[in-house]
Amino acid sequence: MTTFDNVLPIVEKVFSSHADTIQQLDWVLVNRDLTGRVRFVVPSAIADRPELKLAVQNVADAVMDQLGPHGYATSSSLLYESDRDSVCLGAAQFPLHNVPNGIVVDRLATDSTWQSIHDMANDPPRIVFYSIKGGVGRSTALAITAWHLAQAGLRVLVLDLDLESPGLSSELLPEDRQPQYGITDWLVEDLVGNGSTVLEAMVSASPLSHDGEIYVAPAHGRDPGEYLSKLGRVWMSVDDPAGGRQLWDGRLRRLVGQLEDTVKPDVVLIDSRSGIDEISSGCVTALGARLVLMFAIEGHQTWNGYNMLFSNWQRTDAANKIRDRLQVVAALVPEIETADYLAGLRERSYELFAQGLYDDVPPGSVTADYWHFEEHDETAPHAPWAVRWHRSFSAIRSLEGRFADIDAQQVMAVFGPLLDGVAVTIGMDDAKP
Ligand SMILES: Nc1ncnc2c1ncn2[C@@H]1O[C@H](COP(=O)(O)OP(=O)(O)OP(=O)(O)O)[C@@H](O)[C@H]1O
Ligand SMILES: [Mg+2]
Repeated sequence: MTTFDNVLPIVEKVFSSHADTIQQLDWVLVNRDLTGRVRFVVPSAIADRPELKLAVQNVADAVMDQLGPHGYATSSSLLYESDRDSVCLGAAQFPLHNVPNGIVVDRLATDSTWQSIHDMANDPPRIVFYSIKGGVGRSTALAITAWHLAQAGLRVLVLDLDLESPGLSSELLPEDRQPQYGITDWLVEDLVGNGSTVLEAMVSASPLSHDGEIYVAPAHGRDPGEYLSKLGRVWMSVDDPAGGRQLWDGRLRRLVGQLEDTVKPDVVLIDSRSGIDEISSGCVTALGARLVLMFAIEGHQTWNGYNMLFSNWQRTDAANKIRDRLQVVAALVPEIETADYLAGLRERSYELFAQGLYDDVPPGSVTADYWHFEEHDETAPHAPWAVRWHRSFSAIRSLEGRFADIDAQQVMAVFGPLLDGVAVTIGMDDAKP
């Protein structure tokens, strides 16, 4: 019986075995609808070529014979359209493997966009803190990074985009400094063209740093208000003045741009939601991050999750657009048997990259055309930057209280490789005296 995962391989196989027919088309779209049923769209101009039209219908029939419940009856398996772009509107798209003129038009029930990787935004650099599993010390590491960069004189903007489980802002801001509004308020107000009303009152300066400054845009304001009702609307799209719809991740990008215009930071740190959902996809793929930190703890759940993500990037041809921005962080590295733990984590991380993102060339080939780091290359994205578990950071009620007696040396002992790595990535030495 055919199930979802067999559908595209069947299409690819049948199309490849009828390449002489398929190649005659300017394009062929494989439309996979919301329920996962597939049919084809081809240029209406083939009406003038009855022989080709018949041959294409025969190919479509041959596919449908194998698709079972995932296909359509002959009468509706093939559609004719003059304008390819209008068919693709609002859907995710990616190339069909081994069929040069074939494109999959994938209609998802969410606006999740893991495969559309936005170009890097460099001024200021944006760094995303992401993990498959929650509770791995991501927000704590972000707060420490913000503190460290600010101590070095940078102006840091911190965004709490873990909207479903917010908390970072309370780490960085005492209660009396919480701003009136948060990111959720802007995303909801923007739906009715009212974003500017909350923009000025959704950022507060944190008192933690004395040299540089940390500005925090929390998930919600001092009074969260009807938070759940707002949260259920944040991912909606709006009419785009330029035509069509602007998806939620485009709105998020607009918000970050506006906050940058207001705060003028040297660097932006983004606390993403963990796991694979719309909000985390927006953070990882849509914000033009220069660096996506992938927090990892040893365990099946971590590698399985990253593997699903990497396979999606591979299938959709998105891998090479994002792979050089990724960096694994070993989270909560245990105090005992540390070297063994890190060696094991590096091995699993290498396997993940070698299988999913590195090119099929000998390890050590890192050029413009080939990309495959050696397993033991310290500069490789799979070579984890270690954040050590330390009891002084365990179960603290608020970092904001913890910062009162923070010891820079101890911070380096726990977070050093992460802080150094971030500094190099953003060229911190060149950024400020
Ligand atoms: N380096 C560390 N050593 C020991 N404990 C830590 C360290 N970093 C964070 N913790 C503790 O681990 C717990 C989770 O940390 P944190 O909230 O930063 O994780 P998170 O990944 O952001 O979680 P969530 O997914 O819930 O947002 C907290 O109790 C925190 O105090
Ligand atoms: Mg967190």
